[in-house]
This record gives sequence, structure tokens and C-alpha cells, in this order.
Amino acid sequence: MNAQELMETARKLVAGDKGLLAMDESNPTCNKRFAKLGIPQTVEARRAYREMIVTTPGLGESISGAILYDETVRQQKKDGTPILKAVTDAGIIPGIKVDAGAKDMAGHPGEKITEGLDGLRERLAEYSRMGARFAKWRAVIAIGAGIPSRGCIEANAHALARYAALCQEAGIVPVVEPEVLMDGDHTLARCAEATEEVLRTVFHQLYTQRVMLEGMLLKPNMVLPGLACPKQESVDEVADATVRCLLRAVPAAVPGITFLSGGQTSDLASARLNAMNVRFKSRLPWALAFSFARAIQQPALEIWHGNEANVPAAQKALYHRAKCNGAARRGEYNAAMERA
Ligand code: 13P
Repeated sequence: MNAQELMETARKLVAGDKGLLAMDESNPTCNKRFAKLGIPQTVEARRAYREMIVTTPGLGESISGAILYDETVRQQKKDGTPILKAVTDAGIIPGIKVDAGAKDMAGHPGEKITEGLDGLRERLAEYSRMGARFAKWRAVIAIGAGIPSRGCIEANAHALARYAALCQEAGIVPVVEPEVLMDGDHTLARCAEATEEVLRTVFHQLYTQRVMLEGMLLKPNMVLPGLACPKQESVDEVADATVRCLLRAVPAAVPGITFLSGGQTSDLASARLNAMNVRFKSRLPWALAFSFARAIQQPALEIWHGNEANVPAAQKALYHRAKCNGAARRGEYNAAMERA
């Protein structure tokens, strides 16, 4: 492992006001999003969609790294250029999703465990040869009656740490993603409690598995009330609760925190990230950045709709959302940007 290189890559991914674009939906997830809009769920439609994204003019102004899915890293643009080359040509560092998905956890009704450790060393070596410089593994933690359980939190944290250690061995920066889901009617306080427990457990496991914190990124959820909770806190209250939780649980050696959007609307995700940077940026040890999928892509996907004629308009929407999140990193995002 080249520690210097890992640290440099991790720092580059959260440098300035840029962030990550998660465009690594698995085929089933991507198909589900296409189906909702009546877009054909084919290899070619997914390829065309990803080509639209990576060829967006100026995307590299706000996006430092793009997380790709295995199918995409093996695909080409219509003109034959590998998608991976299009990403690097845009000045964007290529990353890869390497988990094999969250599966029902034995003995733990309503909970999931993320799979994908078997053969991971070999897969990472291949992705590294292809040019990937960072990776992602997502664990999901649900909140509900009697859950999350200790067993689920520990098993997922352990898998995240073993994945992260294997990544660093391969010279790939691990993005460690423990996602506490928004589904449910739980309160913000409950989410804060679960998120803190999850993060403390994850960092304990990262330490045990000898992961170098300077050469990784954390991709957590924001601390939010459940989607069905009657009380929805203000943007500033969410920012305060999220930063308080992170300060308690995330070591200062970690260079950056790149939030997932998790089903928030695009505007709210930008506004909440902005509020955190406005209120706390000068006092935090790590950069507060983004690694959004839906909160960057969704408006563009709806405009694109599987139709080549819509590509320029969809790219404009994608560029705009990336810019809004760059502004949120500087604490300069405001609602007027949405009307521009
Ligand atoms: P969302 O921003 O849509 O939550 O996706 C982020 C992600 O990469 C989930 O693994």
C-alpha cells in the first residue's frame, strides 16, 4: 500500500468545493428508476444514460470523482471511447462500487447485511488496473421497532472495515458508507442516536482492521427525521444535529465526509449541506462535501427520459445541480440559484 498516494487521492476527492457524483446504481436499482419514468430497462438505455452524464460539459468544475457500476466501467460511448476514459478526460477521478448489495440478514427480521467480501481482493486488483482510484461499499441500517439491532450494526461495521482494509492494500481509497435509512416515522433524535452508535461502531472496526483513516472517506447519512415523521425540523436544526453527531463519532484524521442524499429532495440536500458549511465550516477538522446520486441525477433523469433529443437539457440540469452543491460546500448556496 502506498500511504502517500492514498492520502493524496482522498484529499483530492474533497479538495476545494468539489464533491462526488454517485452514478453507480446497480442494474436492479437503475431499472427501477427507469421503469418509474417508462424508460426501457435495457443495457443500451443504461449505457446511453451514463454517457449523457459523463459527457456533461463542465461537470468537472464541481465533481471531483464519479462512482461507477461494474457494467459501466466495461462500456463505451457511442463513438467507441471507453466511458472510463471519458470520465478521466473530464478531469474526474473514477471510482467503483464494489459491494454486492444488501441482503436479508439471517436471524434479524427487517435488517440487511451487505455482501461482497469473497473475491474482493481480486476484483479490486482488476479495477485498479482499469484505473479506478477509489471505491464504495454501502451498508444499510433501518430504524424501526426494536431495530437497528447490535448484531446488524456490528456485522455491517465489520464488513465495511474489511472492505476498507482490502481497498487500501490495493491502493484504492475506500469510501465507507453506513447509511441509516430515512424510511419510517422515527424522530430526528432517534436518527441521531442510531447514527452515532453506527459511526462509533464503524470507527472501532476500522481501527481494529488497521485502516488508515487519512486515506479514506466517510459517506454517512445526514441526521434527519424519518420521512413519515410528523415533525420535520428546519434546515438549521438538521445541520446542527448532523454536525453534533459527526463531531462525537468521526476522528479528526479522516479528511472528508461526503454525504449521501438518501431520498431527500435535491433542493433540501443542497440547503442542508450549505447550512452545515455556513454554521460550522471554519471549526471542523474534516471537509463536509457530497456524494449524491438522486439529489444530483434525478432532475436530469426526468428530463432525459430515454430520449437522445433531451440530452442537452438533461445535461444542463445535471450541471446546475452539481454547481448548487459546489456552492453548498462554500456556504454560498441559496434558493435564488434554483430560479436562475
Ligand atoms: P443517494 O444520494 O441517492 O442516497 O445515493 C447515494 C449512494 O451512493 C447510495 O449508495
